Amino acid sequence: MNATSWRPGFHLSPAVGWANDPNGLCQFNGRYHVFFQHTADWPQSTLKDWQHYSSADLLHWEDHGVALAPSMHEDSCGAYSGCAWVERGGAPDGGDLMRVYYTGNVTDHEAGDCIHVGREANQIMVTSTDGVSFGEKDVQLTNADYPATCTQHVRDPKVWKQDGRLYMLLGARTQKDVGQVLVMASDDGRSWRLHHQIDSVHPFGFMWECPNVAQVDGHDFLAVCPQGLPSEAERWQNLWQAGYFPLDDSLLTTTEVDEHTFVEWDHGFDFYAPQIFVDDTGRTLLVGWMGVFQEDQTAVPDGLPWCHCLTVPRELTLGEDGLLRQTPARELEQLRHDEAPLTPGTDVLLPDLEADIALTNIAEGDVTLTLNDALRLTVAGGYLKVRFLDDAAGAGRSSRIVPLDGGKLDDLRVLVDGSTVEVYANGGATVFSTRWFPHGEKGLRVRASFAGATARAWQMYAPLHETYEPWDSPAPIRACA
Ligand code: FRU
Repeated sequence: MNATSWRPGFHLSPAVGWANDPNGLCQFNGRYHVFFQHTADWPQSTLKDWQHYSSADLLHWEDHGVALAPSMHEDSCGAYSGCAWVERGGAPDGGDLMRVYYTGNVTDHEAGDCIHVGREANQIMVTSTDGVSFGEKDVQLTNADYPATCTQHVRDPKVWKQDGRLYMLLGARTQKDVGQVLVMASDDGRSWRLHHQIDSVHPFGFMWECPNVAQVDGHDFLAVCPQGLPSEAERWQNLWQAGYFPLDDSLLTTTEVDEHTFVEWDHGFDFYAPQIFVDDTGRTLLVGWMGVFQEDQTAVPDGLPWCHCLTVPRELTLGEDGLLRQTPARELEQLRHDEAPLTPGTDVLLPDLEADIALTNIAEGDVTLTLNDALRLTVAGGYLKVRFLDDAAGAGRSSRIVPLDGGKLDDLRVLVDGSTVEVYANGGATVFSTRWFPHGEKGLRVRASFAGATARAWQMYAPLHETYEPWDSPAPIRACA
């Protein structure tokens, strides 16, 4: 095993430096665009810009470099998270216009705590007619435009069009230290007024980051990332959480959500700040950050020139229980090759760390999947247990237990890609994403045990490998934060 094999082949990661939240997801003139929060000279700097990739098929990605970087006072401490909205026919030549909305962050720690005093949260728009070059920055909202009940933490715009009007969600922290969403409205996508605010019935964390909306089969879902929920044994196990509220009514008329209805997207060590968009085929797709801002769980081996990555695009569909299901975008199946059957108790050795493992028609009984004697997934007694058998491979992560939706396991899908593992149980009702850094033998050893199932593993092509420089180094472990 060498460290180049930890580099994902179909999960986007920065060529060098740090990555966090996906940004600006859209399909524009047929191509998919994904940006993410990025710091090239990490760990010396934490200043964020937007790294940009595009793809015709969600599999092969072109690296466009940095799309947006701090360049003026209003975004001088970071081009923070935001979205893209495609205006049909909005370009001067009658073509489509990509509008990108993001938060320009300004912090002055000498002036104050940067919560109540010392922070500017500027919502800024840039446009593009070719999807690659961006025009002038247009500062549309500043601190003066937010309700007086908000602190200076207001960020992460999500813009979409509904019933002929544009709406923008902003995540906020109130003066009472409670998370809230601001819903702004606009007729032209330039001047905005407050439409309404969305609160939880009882306080649910001190700040809601990265708000988003999913509208699936006529049902609205409000996604937020609450900071400040206390970790419990079977839920909210990360420092900050990412999930959604299923809404009874339209988001546009919802002013209050019941915090008891909050559903976590993903129970893994490495998941936060997802974004959602609708592509040209009408699919609702989600991409998350495979990382968290938590030192003991963001460990990567020392000297790795890049830190963190994004999840694969996931299709969102509505389950019979009214909750969302997440499944890897169907395009990923095109990367499968050389299918190998899995039989209980027999090791299957794949030459590389890229695999798609699928168990379907699972009979009653416990199911275990062990990967490289380093990571073990066990489904027993209505729980999914994820446990690192090897401290070095966990790099700070150890074990988690997650209640399985519906109690019983019907199917299990596991994507392994370099240092990433994504687990989808029961058609994506329960999802778990983690990084891992297996040492030792090259390739992937899969050992399965189950009473009965159709169980297969495919090797996966790794198109992104062609875009990165090989890198190798002995690998002691340290935290990266
Ligand atoms: C979430 C977040 C956002 C912010 C961005 C900065 O991970 O804190 O609220 O815009 O990261 O990188």
